[in-house]
Amino acid sequence: MQGKNILLAVSGGIAVYKAVALTSKLTQKGANVKVMMTEHAAQFVPPLSFQVLSRNDVYTDTFDEKESKVVAHIDLADWADLVIVAPATANLIGKMANGIADDMVTTTLLATEAPVWVAPAMNVHMISHPAVVRNIERLYQDGIRFIEPDEGYLACGYIGRGRLEEPEKITARIEEFFQEDKTVLAGKKILITAGGTREKLDPVRYFTNRSSGKMGFQIAEQTMLKGAEVTLVTATRELPIPPNVKAVYVDSAEEMYEAVAHVKEQQDAFVMAAAVADYTPVEVHEHKIKKQSGNLSIQFKRTKDILLSVGETKRSDQVVIGFAAETQNIAENARTKLTKKHADLIVANNVSEPGAGFGVDTNIVTFYFADGREIALPLLDKREVAARITTEISRALDAQHNG
Ligand code: CTP
Repeated sequence: MQGKNILLAVSGGIAVYKAVALTSKLTQKGANVKVMMTEHAAQFVPPLSFQVLSRNDVYTDTFDEKESKVVAHIDLADWADLVIVAPATANLIGKMANGIADDMVTTTLLATEAPVWVAPAMNVHMISHPAVVRNIERLYQDGIRFIEPDEGYLACGYIGRGRLEEPEKITARIEEFFQEDKTVLAGKKILITAGGTREKLDPVRYFTNRSSGKMGFQIAEQTMLKGAEVTLVTATRELPIPPNVKAVYVDSAEEMYEAVAHVKEQQDAFVMAAAVADYTPVEVHEHKIKKQSGNLSIQFKRTKDILLSVGETKRSDQVVIGFAAETQNIAENARTKLTKKHADLIVANNVSEPGAGFGVDTNIVTFYFADGREIALPLLDKREVAARITTEISRALDAQHNG
């Protein structure tokens, strides 16, 4: 982070005191930090605190031009290598999502071409309000990156999600960002499947599973950030599509198979993170099945195995990665899948362990490689697991290229 220009935008919430600590952490790491504050932020902590810690002027007013040779908000916007908004209130997020520029902070945010990160902090009900959710989704699609708020005790007395992430963690994420090589997957085409398929029974019913799609979406984002051209074939519609990722929406295993088959020739790598139904009803009823006395039997037939279909036809310059969600004999089952499906890597997790598997934001996985290697990872954010998988993709593609 040495020598990097970080512009910290502070908006008005009780978490402003953490932004003070963040300023200190960033400067300790060698970054040049400049701070701009909204009027409300200055009600919580005086600009002087930030000025002393950043050893730079603090900007609060668009019209308070400190240097006559430059226009402050444009100068600041151009100066930044990264802008971090912390804490980001619901109000500021709303303004950003709608392109409003009515003070120093929002005007500069519109003027910058640097990557912008947003670390929200607000009451638990505010962060789940549909308007805030909508604004966050829009910003996410605009390419803004978020540092998810933590869960814990909130100043308003509630316990829940909404607490500004700790300054140490924000600093670590920024550090990682500057260390990342954003081009390692440039020019590579990667296809990712995500979510639980829906197998239709009649016009109102379908069979599905508990997959949230989070793992696949995180892999899509991480590979995109490394420069890959990413296609995400997803059975989940609930999650926002990461910026610059091409989404193909599907419902059933059959549709997912077709979508993958359509583009598989052009791909360099595949990551099959979807929870694809192994069975689908033999008959899809045209009309709703009416209840009757006695039991109901439904006949199922096997679906096509998508991972197997890409594994079987895989060229020597393609990399194939599958997942295994297991509850027992993890290693044995994962290794069997690896050979049966001709994969280069199986990412296996024990879905019965707390912190792993469906719905949660974390995962505990072990990598089983076709060359016999094994890497067991600790409990990690799905984002971090996705970053590790991304590293393995680029290593595998490099290895093929070199030999
Ligand atoms: N998969 C797939 N197409 C299917 C089924 C699974 O692409 N029709 C992929 C999944 O995306 C995942 C891997 O295969 O990458 C999981 O393998 P699978 O054998 O389906 O796992 P389970 O269903 O958990 O296996 P089992 O029935 O052995 O428990």
